[in-house]
Amino acid sequence: MKIFVIGKKGQLGQEIERRCGGAPYKVFSYGREDLDITDHKKVSEVVGKVGPDIVVNCTALHASLESEKKPGGMFEVNAFAVKNLALVCAKNKIPLVTYSTDYVFSGMKGVPYKESDHPTPVQMFGISKYMGELMAINYCPDSIVIRTSGLYGGLRGSRSKGNFVLNLIQESKTKKTIEVSSDQIFSPTYVEDLVAASFELLKKKARPGIHHIANGGYCSWADFSKEIVKIMGLKTTIAPVNRKGVWGGIKRPLFAALDNSKVKKMGIEIPSWQKGLEKYAHFLENNI
Ligand SMILES: NC(=O)c1ccc[n+]([C@@H]2O[C@H](COP(=O)([O-])OP(=O)(O)OC[C@H]3O[C@@H](n4cnc5c(N)ncnc54)[C@H](OP(=O)(O)O)[C@@H]3O)[C@@H](O)[C@H]2O)c1
Repeated sequence: MKIFVIGKKGQLGQEIERRCGGAPYKVFSYGREDLDITDHKKVSEVVGKVGPDIVVNCTALHASLESEKKPGGMFEVNAFAVKNLALVCAKNKIPLVTYSTDYVFSGMKGVPYKESDHPTPVQMFGISKYMGELMAINYCPDSIVIRTSGLYGGLRGSRSKGNFVLNLIQESKTKKTIEVSSDQIFSPTYVEDLVAASFELLKKKARPGIHHIANGGYCSWADFSKEIVKIMGLKTTIAPVNRKGVWGGIKRPLFAALDNSKVKKMGIEIPSWQKGLEKYAHFLENNI
């Protein structure tokens, strides 16, 4: 089975490449340097040449104050490039898997969001990702859009921003106390669990459309941090602060937990966020 992965140097891309490293899979993976997803012509040429059985889009430009002010680049990667990829997939009759985020929601519902809930993003990043979802679904009828939340994994995390767990470990080396938001609730997700559940979804021939995959349960960033400190034995104290849904100058959804019940009903097991974190601690312990 030929899998075409675009965005291979990210947390998700690396984990997909690792998981598919052998029969029955043959991975054709590309980092930004090899294949820029915004180069529509080249994307079309390379996909056509490889002739994959499935295309997995792992690229994203994340929320940043700079992109909020000048969102053009974010829309190019998160939305218009997804439209092109979807058109290429539809033309070649290849299913497209692309990833989205809990940030498509406003965070005002108060209980975990289901796939049937209407997105109402509160910042340009969420709007660009929601547009990407619409692009995939509208332009490639075989698209599977997987929404996830608070992703972490790998030895270095994302090239652009590391990840929350690694950054906290680093900060704990120099700070006795670290302030973390207590107001934003989310479902922290270990990339290994996300990829395992994504492959299960494909194996079970999930119907096209939106699917939520995040580790089970939810917590605030402060609670998540306390659990990291406990599990990893860090020498720092977490001081919860109420940032009223704004962090780094960007408005964030207050309660963005994702409801997993749709994929669970398909028989796909997704561990709790605490179990995911334990596995990541184990991974870091054995690889650093
Ligand atoms: N991280 C989270 O907390 C989180 C939460 C919810 C949903 N998600 C979603 O999950 C998916 C994977 O996220 P992730 O954490 O793996 O992100 P990541 O580690 O930042 O990886 C994204 C990759 O996209 C690449 N990229 C950016 N612009 C590109 C372009 N023009 N052409 C080709 N590649 C480009 C980046 O390249 P460089 O390595 O050169 O930067 C990076 O390797 C995304 O759809 C994201 O929106 C993530």
